[in-house]
Amino acid sequence: MTALLEVKDLKVAYGKIEAVKGISFSVHAGEIVTLIGTNGAGKTTTLRTLSGLLKPVSGSVVFDGEEITGVGAHKVVAKGLAHSPEGRRIFPNLTIEENLKLGAFLRKDADGIERDIESSYERFPILGERRRQAAGTLSGGEQQMLAMGRALMSQPKLLMLDEPSMGLSPIMMQKIMETIAELKAQGTTILLVEQNAQAALSLADQGHVMEIGKVVLSGTGADLLHDESVRKAYLGED
Ligand SMILES: Nc1ncnc2c1ncn2[C@@H]1O[C@H](COP(=O)(O)OP(=O)(O)OP(=O)(O)O)[C@@H](O)[C@H]1O
Ligand SMILES: [Mg+2]
Repeated sequence: MTALLEVKDLKVAYGKIEAVKGISFSVHAGEIVTLIGTNGAGKTTTLRTLSGLLKPVSGSVVFDGEEITGVGAHKVVAKGLAHSPEGRRIFPNLTIEENLKLGAFLRKDADGIERDIESSYERFPILGERRRQAAGTLSGGEQQMLAMGRALMSQPKLLMLDEPSMGLSPIMMQKIMETIAELKAQGTTILLVEQNAQAALSLADQGHVMEIGKVVLSGTGADLLHDESVRKAYLGED
């Protein structure tokens, strides 16, 4: 089966600093694939490059059968690749509903947009209850729901989530992870970047461990969860 996303030997640099040093991985339709790794490993840089916000030095990205290497961010979204960024980046002074609508900025089907906003409120009732309030009044976990809801408004074939559990209480983190599992059950393909390796690997079909710009270990979520070196380095065991 051909992959929905195929990344080959991707290199990305900030000036002279090579942040991603030739990584390869693929994501098949219906899967959750996770990239885990410590601070500075290059996870965010990888997602920002896939979504067209950064231009790679070399390598190739094929998405849904088409080469998108170096293609701009608008076109990448239009092709069905959505990105819920690190730190959420919601617009605090706009209402929750306005934030959701921004996720649909490329769509022209007003009825479909309305329907999908209603589905966001079904998925995340708190967003519906507070739809007319400024998004900045939401808690961290609620803002994460909004960031995911907004990314879903582009009707993506692949949803990329950068550290959705960052800064959340254990209960809220659990809720976000359950939401990710639900999205998968509904057929959404997900590329999940997480520092919480335990949570991410428990959900993932495939995982890749990144260290200073390279993939150093790959396997199924279950294999990596039981791998001794992963348990030592990322799950706090000695
Ligand atoms: N705008 C930038 N300019 C220069 N260097 C950068 C820039 N953004 C990131 N870097 C560097 O690139 C490397 C990879 O950073 P990146 O943010 O991709 O890591 P990460 O795996 O997402 O880390 P974290 O888990 O802390 O979010 C780091 O060494 C970082 O300092
Ligand atoms: Mg990051």
